[in-house]
Amino acid sequence: MDAVQKANQYIREKRTEVVDEYRNHFHLMAPVGWINDPNGFIYFRGEYHLFYQFYPYDSVWGPMHWGHAKSKDLLHWEELPVALAPGESYDKDGCFSGSAIEKDGKLYLMYTGHTVVGEQVRQVQCLAVSEDGIVFKKYAQNPIIAEEHIADVAQIDDFRDPKVFQREGHFYSVVAAKTAESRGQILLFESEDLLEWQFSSVLLEGDDEQGVMWECPDLFHLDGKDVLILSPIEMDKKGLSYWNTSSTVAFIGAVDWQTGRFIVENHHEIDHGVDFYAPQTCLGKEDKRIMVAWMQMWHRTMPTHDLGHKWSGSMTLPRELFVEKNRLLQRPIQTLYQSLDITLQKENLELSEQPIILEKVISDQTYAALSIAMNDAQEVALLFGHGGNTLEFHYSAEESLVTVSRKNSGWKISGNEEETYDFRCMRVPLVDGKLKVEIVRDTSSMEWFFNDSTAMSFTFYEKSKGHDLMLSASDRAVLTSIKIGEIQ
Ligand code: FRU
Repeated sequence: MDAVQKANQYIREKRTEVVDEYRNHFHLMAPVGWINDPNGFIYFRGEYHLFYQFYPYDSVWGPMHWGHAKSKDLLHWEELPVALAPGESYDKDGCFSGSAIEKDGKLYLMYTGHTVVGEQVRQVQCLAVSEDGIVFKKYAQNPIIAEEHIADVAQIDDFRDPKVFQREGHFYSVVAAKTAESRGQILLFESEDLLEWQFSSVLLEGDDEQGVMWECPDLFHLDGKDVLILSPIEMDKKGLSYWNTSSTVAFIGAVDWQTGRFIVENHHEIDHGVDFYAPQTCLGKEDKRIMVAWMQMWHRTMPTHDLGHKWSGSMTLPRELFVEKNRLLQRPIQTLYQSLDITLQKENLELSEQPIILEKVISDQTYAALSIAMNDAQEVALLFGHGGNTLEFHYSAEESLVTVSRKNSGWKISGNEEETYDFRCMRVPLVDGKLKVEIVRDTSSMEWFFNDSTAMSFTFYEKSKGHDLMLSASDRAVLTSIKIGEIQ
């Protein structure tokens, strides 16, 4: 039995031992064990395929496999067999993150082979190919990018996460590396056939406030701009941004394809929540650019692991991207709106200091959209849950400030950062005096979207389940509309 078969057999035997109390339903999760980054996100033969960093044998990180699922609408996922498992001389300690591309009707995965021999970590780029999109065969001549390609440019011990793409008939790959001074850098490689690769350029290098290493780059063209997204480790906190141990950043600008350099016009954090990392995009149906991320954070306690539930981690809801005024904006995947069973709809509810309590309106799979006219009110509060056990949202009109907090909701989560934040803030200016708030709640996650443009992702693990929504305002704000639905 090879390592892929062994993992599949283990999953078959152990999946019934998983405790489902906190398991999400329409977010992609592994059947058992640990997951982190999304990998190989691609629209292939009319379906979305999404792979993920996967350790089936425990609910903590271990030698990485690639789990695999597919979906037609990015909400309902069909589990597929494990796609990759470590075992070759060049990937014996893990098949790390990477991406997918279609060529001549076949599905290619480009991933990082990770090995550790004594003190020496070696990360090289590898290929695997599939005729049917399900069973993958590693390329006999792996690795395809290794030491000789990056001599004098980068070290082999932090060199990973290739994102492959095609442009004007050539294949390119962006790969994460780091400088001798421990700054992030993204390298660009080029190929005619996916098999033979040449180093092209250092696409972009971080400064000393932008983290000690960059991970999981992705480069795409959208709405007239080039966008480079990546995930820095230990980026410095700046104002309301980059509060997590590991952050995510979008650089907006233009690639100079003559020099292979990325000319940055703007950059900002991608999601202002506490649980969002390693996003990857694909070009989907109707040429929409879609992003999905790991909805968890490195080096923090994971309640489902600590409670012995035998699983850890989930993907975010996939999101549709667009660029406006040099910012990368996002909103929920549009298929969400076709999967709603509307259970409550009201207009022009006056809010005041006396909270309105909508009992049992927030189920474990809920979508809610609220449009709030602040009028003269300074503060609006929305509390999800029950009694003192609530996930909280506050908006301050004076500061245009959204705060979302999981402080009073469920199991405490702590991390190795100086301070583990159980809340995050973000500036969201009103549009025509109103704030549009959308929430997408799956069992243990709530993702917030504001004004069809920005997002905050939170996981939370309630000790006792509460399904009420409490609304109040410091003065007379008006909820011009509220719509709540079950996600089917
Ligand atoms: C990002 C990351 C990647 C690496 C993978 C290993 O979360 O550290 O850089 O390929 O996870 O699981």
